[in-house]
Amino acid sequence: MHPLERAAQKLLNDILKVKRDEVVCVTCDFEGDLKFAQKLCETAHKISAKPLLLYTASPPHVGRAGEDYLPKHPLRSALLQADVWIELNMKWLLYSSIYEDVVKTNRVRYMCLVGMNEDMAIRCIGRVNVPLLLEFQRRLRDLTKNTKSMRYTTPAGTDVTFENDPKRPVLVEGDVNGPGEYMLIGQVDWAPLEETIEGVIVFDGSVTPPYELGLLHSPIKLKIKAGRVQEISGEREARIYESWLKSFNDPNMFSLAHISYGCNPGAKLCGNVLEDERVWGCLEWGLGNQSDTFKAKSIKASSHSDGVTLRPTLYADSETLIKDGEYVHPQLVELARKIKDDWETSKKF
Ligand SMILES: [Fe+2]
Repeated sequence: MHPLERAAQKLLNDILKVKRDEVVCVTCDFEGDLKFAQKLCETAHKISAKPLLLYTASPPHVGRAGEDYLPKHPLRSALLQADVWIELNMKWLLYSSIYEDVVKTNRVRYMCLVGMNEDMAIRCIGRVNVPLLLEFQRRLRDLTKNTKSMRYTTPAGTDVTFENDPKRPVLVEGDVNGPGEYMLIGQVDWAPLEETIEGVIVFDGSVTPPYELGLLHSPIKLKIKAGRVQEISGEREARIYESWLKSFNDPNMFSLAHISYGCNPGAKLCGNVLEDERVWGCLEWGLGNQSDTFKAKSIKASSHSDGVTLRPTLYADSETLIKDGEYVHPQLVELARKIKDDWETSKKF
């Protein structure tokens, strides 16, 4: 089987659990990967589902700001009647009024794959042992939910502490159970208690947006007090980042919104946030707007940005969960090895 077809099959069968006769809508724009969109439709047809490819020009803006440039009435009508919606648009519809109407119907399993391309689909889905990875992500979730205090350091100088609220969810991305919003496998994210986040975070992997950054050539150091960025230092990229955050004239752009574990064995640091935030063993922070799905403070801000910290060592209460970018906790270490071995083996097929 062609590796791209395997990726499509795993996404449809193992992740989205598509059933016979279900309507699978794939949205793609001129900047998205049409080849993967077509492969998804062909594969959906092979498994007796009913694919529909909605291919549009790329609007100049994302979300709500972009939809007036699209044929939004036909798009809305089709998506309202889908069972599964896979979004491959580069200019995403996520959080547009179309998206919100679709979510309200509570019938659609929506998978956000903004930025996905053929190569990434093969590495981050096709070659992944999906059931094992989801089991690993659930263990990470449980360990995190049972941890009160966390601290982590990185070789680049991160040293940050925070506390978790056991009532807040820890999200296992890509674990599809019924209608709802889902993201690519290989990420587990949550919102720590904002006021407890203290210390220094050094982004040394990538930062997006602003889109002129992406892969970092020099680290960006953020001084954090009570969950808010107090000071940004570094070289040229740090100044670009600070100016971008300030450009919104919105103090909430300086709030930390969430943290995430990266655990996709196929993800590599490449400047594409979809993949960068899933690099195995990284920790990533979101700044700015805080999604309601975290059931946290729902801090509203003008935009949102994600920054990656590499090779962390993470202490969870009295235990070490990650050491120098590798999962070392006794409940994770064996499964981590198996997931990585399976991914290496899959390269031969
Ligand atoms: Fe984020």
